[in-house]
Amino acid sequence: MRKKFEDGGMPSGRRGFLKGMAALAAAPLIAELAACARTQPASQSGSRAAASPGTASLARRRLGSLEVSTLGLGCMNVAWAYGPPTDRRDAIQLIRAAHARGVTFFDTAEVYGPFLSEEILGEAAAPFRDQVVIATKFGFDVTPAGERRGLDSRPEHIRQAIEGSLRRLKTDRIDLYYQHRVDPAVPIEDVAGAVKDLIQQGKVRYFGLSEAGGATIRRAHAVQPVTAVQNEYSVWTRDPEHEVLPTCEELGIGFVPWSPLGMGYLTGAITPATTFDPKSDLRAGFPRFTAEARAANRPVVELLQRVGQRKGATPAQIALVWLLAKKPWIVPIPGTTKLKHMEENLGALAIELTAEEVAEIEAGFARLRVQGARAPEQLLKSHDIGANLGSSSAGGHGLSPLREERSR
Ligand SMILES: NC(=O)c1ccc[n+]([C@@H]2O[C@H](COP(=O)([O-])OP(=O)(O)OC[C@H]3O[C@@H](n4cnc5c(N)ncnc54)[C@H](OP(=O)(O)O)[C@@H]3O)[C@@H](O)[C@H]2O)c1
Repeated sequence: MRKKFEDGGMPSGRRGFLKGMAALAAAPLIAELAACARTQPASQSGSRAAASPGTASLARRRLGSLEVSTLGLGCMNVAWAYGPPTDRRDAIQLIRAAHARGVTFFDTAEVYGPFLSEEILGEAAAPFRDQVVIATKFGFDVTPAGERRGLDSRPEHIRQAIEGSLRRLKTDRIDLYYQHRVDPAVPIEDVAGAVKDLIQQGKVRYFGLSEAGGATIRRAHAVQPVTAVQNEYSVWTRDPEHEVLPTCEELGIGFVPWSPLGMGYLTGAITPATTFDPKSDLRAGFPRFTAEARAANRPVVELLQRVGQRKGATPAQIALVWLLAKKPWIVPIPGTTKLKHMEENLGALAIELTAEEVAEIEAGFARLRVQGARAPEQLLKSHDIGANLGSSSAGGHGLSPLREERSR
């Protein structure tokens, strides 16, 4: 019996709220962002690289040997997770606007929608495919009709899944191909071996893991070097500090924090009065998003606001620049459906936190106790051992079975 993935199955719908998107090609704004990028501090935002004609230049960072813009764009949100899908044309314009502003790193997954996020990104990025890094993920058993049936990282399934992703993304190669969740039924060596074959065939450029713990990362890396690990990480979700970031640092692996804005909470836009539609918004079932937790956790936002106010920055920008200040090989991928939020988030690249300000955030946070787990129990269980705070894969091998255990 394969493990069930329980957070999906939402009905799809349409919303057309990205008003004003016709102004996406606004040249003055591009120039302004380019100017911001030129003045940004290299220490936190990364090195510079030439922009493609017609696009602004943003700072770049390296995930292993893969160069990407210092902030990426999470493309899950236009298809799924925190409300009904965005109007398709608006979603495409949003992604193209991000590219015009210098973003070269776009994150999606087969399961977002399912399929819709990859379809939208494929269409949006087609005119500039060769200028950007497309990251997607495999590892769920998704029927052609879009029903999510659980995990499946068997090599034969990976070989099948990539063909669908390549088709939807309108490309002949995936730049960064992540296993979305460690599959307790498949040794990670078999997964890494399958991706290694795809790399040899030219269908994949780099290998990644998501919500993996230290032992699994090491085992995978021994078969096929891992370029990036993508786990949840933000000011209020510190799980990777436990064993994953030290493992990445030791092995020279890049780190991509998902939900860098705390699923929106760290921006200050979510209050106890905010409502979440249980039919389309995952947060309706998340312990950290009950009305009580939203009220209790307000001091986290206030801490970011206090630091931000002195610098003319928003809490969202401080949350992002805090991540950038942590390590030069961290590349957050904030997700949004709104142009103005995307622009605000990119504005973080013009801000620098001093060591004292980072220490102030750390000291302030240490005095707080976040109420509510970062995900419901059944989802936390789908994260590898060592990927959640309080669990450690040291001395073990994570959720991924050893080959001999599997054959027993
Ligand atoms: N590997 C994994 O298992 C995994 C899991 C989840 C997500 N991801 C990836 O990570 C990406 C980002 O994570 P996420 O979307 O879960 O969380 P996030 O980036 O922390 O937050 C997204 C939420 O914040 C809001 N937001 C963004 N910028 C804002 C701003 N400046 N002001 C106010 N609100 C703002 C968005 O709403 P609006 O649309 O209104 O802006 C959205 O509801 C996803 O798109 C996806 O690609 C990966």
